[in-house]
Amino acid sequence: MQRTALPRRILIVGLGLIGGSLAAALRAAGFGAAEKRAEILACDPDADEIARGIEMGLIDRGDTRLAPLLDGVDLVVLAVPVLAMRQVMEELAAADVVAKGAVVTDVGSTKGAIREAAEAVFGRMPPTLVLGHPIAGSEKSGVAASDPELYVGHKVILTPEPTTDPEALTRVRALWEAAGAEVLEMGVERHDEVLARTSHLPHLLAFSLVDTLARQDERLDIFRYAAGGFRDFTRIAGSDPVMWRDIFVANRDAVLHALDDFESGVARLREAVERGDTDAMLATFDRASHARHYFDSLLNQTSYQAEYQMQAQDQLRYRVSPGGGVTGRIRVPGDKSISHRSIMLGALAEGVTEVSGFLEGEDSLATLQAFREMGVAIEGPHQGRVTVHGVGLHGLKAPAGPLYVGNAGTAMRLFAGLLAGQAFDTELTGDHSLTKRPMGRVADPLREMGAVIETAEGGRPPLKIKGGQPLKGITYDMPMASAQVKSCLLLAGLYAEGETRVREPAPTRDHTERMLNGFGYQVERQGDTCWLQGGGELSAAPIDVPSDISSATFFLVAAAITPGADLVLEHVGINPTRIGVINILQQMGADLRLENEREVGGEPVADLHIRYAPLKGIDIPVDQVPLAIDEFPALFVAAANAEGTTRLREAAELRVKESDRLKAMADGLTALGVENRLFDDGIDIVGRAEGQGGDGPSYGGGRIDSLGDHRIAMAFTVAALRASDEIVIDDCANVATSFPGFVDLARRVGLALEEEREAS
Ligand code: S3P
Repeated sequence: MQRTALPRRILIVGLGLIGGSLAAALRAAGFGAAEKRAEILACDPDADEIARGIEMGLIDRGDTRLAPLLDGVDLVVLAVPVLAMRQVMEELAAADVVAKGAVVTDVGSTKGAIREAAEAVFGRMPPTLVLGHPIAGSEKSGVAASDPELYVGHKVILTPEPTTDPEALTRVRALWEAAGAEVLEMGVERHDEVLARTSHLPHLLAFSLVDTLARQDERLDIFRYAAGGFRDFTRIAGSDPVMWRDIFVANRDAVLHALDDFESGVARLREAVERGDTDAMLATFDRASHARHYFDSLLNQTSYQAEYQMQAQDQLRYRVSPGGGVTGRIRVPGDKSISHRSIMLGALAEGVTEVSGFLEGEDSLATLQAFREMGVAIEGPHQGRVTVHGVGLHGLKAPAGPLYVGNAGTAMRLFAGLLAGQAFDTELTGDHSLTKRPMGRVADPLREMGAVIETAEGGRPPLKIKGGQPLKGITYDMPMASAQVKSCLLLAGLYAEGETRVREPAPTRDHTERMLNGFGYQVERQGDTCWLQGGGELSAAPIDVPSDISSATFFLVAAAITPGADLVLEHVGINPTRIGVINILQQMGADLRLENEREVGGEPVADLHIRYAPLKGIDIPVDQVPLAIDEFPALFVAAANAEGTTRLREAAELRVKESDRLKAMADGLTALGVENRLFDDGIDIVGRAEGQGGDGPSYGGGRIDSLGDHRIAMAFTVAALRASDEIVIDDCANVATSFPGFVDLARRVGLALEEEREAS
């Protein structure tokens, strides 16, 4: 048996667009050129096609009959319609081509029928027959339309059997890889089911729709005015009829299953249209219109926004020049914590909740999408406006699969509580960083309430939550100051019998309590404990999300450390449980004033006006730690620019955020030459070394690994304002989780910042 990695003589049986494009791609790739160029032969019943193939330089020779071409062939590609495969295989069998060791593959769109034909012809699946299917095509046909790029970046599915010869498989794989395709493997049955749904059913619908409309009286008008949607259907319906007839014969059962599912979907939608059920229509359309991005994110374990998707696939790097100014009036995006909660409570309320100022960042979009998956109609977001059509506490529907919440710890922990009270099972998954974060802190008390939750090892995600479990209220003494744990339990408490009480060791953000009260659900508080009774109802109320003080912090610190700075941050949320950063900066000597204080939708807001003033190092008061928990990366940069040492303790929580923020910051500061000492629960940072007075730089430049943590990336961006040299920050795509538009705003106030992308 003669075997070489690259075939010397390839025979393409059926020289249409598919076969011709393969030949063109192989020619373009110089297939086999290392030795002697591979000879490409073709067989086609149409002599003109052969002549054209030769004229175009795609094939060396051809014939309308198979027999004269078989001598010495070591790779045969069957590119004939599915129902013609058997006939060709019989000719191959008669000529003993397979027995002589040639590798055979095909390009048919269904695999089960072709395998059956092979078994009938050869008595069993020959080990050197590797069935395959390139997922690429065009409405054009014939060899003249051949395109060497047709397979580039497209998937080719191979369906090897346990008995397939590994070398034959390698050879077929090499063939398609040479044509630029991405080669995957799956079983024959799976292939046929998947293709029935993703390709055969859509084609059937397109053929049927176009034909139905083409038979109507006003058909000329229909085609004359066809644009957009219908045009796409006509494009699909323009495919080769013979090929498709064969596919529907060959893959009948799988196609019928897919069609049954589709028909019930259409019936549901028909009913909604008939009843004028606008929520049902919106829920379906919304889910469908966002499905593509959602599933892309799920598949790549990345993100929701097209722009971010691109960044996450590439490596995004910030290159920040030293120096720059900080002046102007800006508004940073909406508060992340409040944005999550606005969707959650809006979905569980009776009535329609209008949200403005919603953060269109990855994290809050993850929450929004998860509710769409559970049947909630949500319009937007569009320029911060979202309309949530509440379904009531018991109106959520089982999602079709796991809920993917990306990088968002808040989403996962709050969802855990909310989903523990549902009638259906759910699974929560997240990205690489979230998968490392502790979930036992919510799973344990929820289990005490009667929830059934499985975690991965060490209490990590994914979380599998069993539905239909009766919950009972508990009194829970939180071991750590965590608003996420508190909120999780309060949300579970909505579904629990009796009272759910949570005691916090230190005050944490109280957005959940405020918003529940705003939605007419009573939450009481006395001292360090808050509680609610299960079994009530939420009624929709408008929500105006203030700007996120955590995002504003990067600009507060930027102004605080930059001589000459004068900046106003408008409409920032100054909830007393969030203003640790204001208190700490003021203690360090920052010239920071609150202007225009007012209350918007149950949350206090103000414009923050900050001007440069020299900072001094302080011992950060322990009671401020939970109130500034997300602000420390930026505050460490302020500390590096302050006179003297800043000490932080009792902040071990920073080790379990999107990254170990104590270590990530310590490593980064060290890289810039800032003296620091790390402790288990804190850090000492020695600001501006002796003799570095005045307006000069406070430290050097350097290269920083943000570890994919948005706040680490933004903190070191700001640090460049007082660096002596450029700061380069790696892995910055996650800035989009909390602060879309950060780079533009940073530039607007006066930072010199470039983005660099590198395909990873
Ligand atoms: C958040 C609470 C905080 C915070 C997080 C958002 C919230 O986490 O760090 O970014 O929205 O409830 P912990 O409650 O775990 O400290």
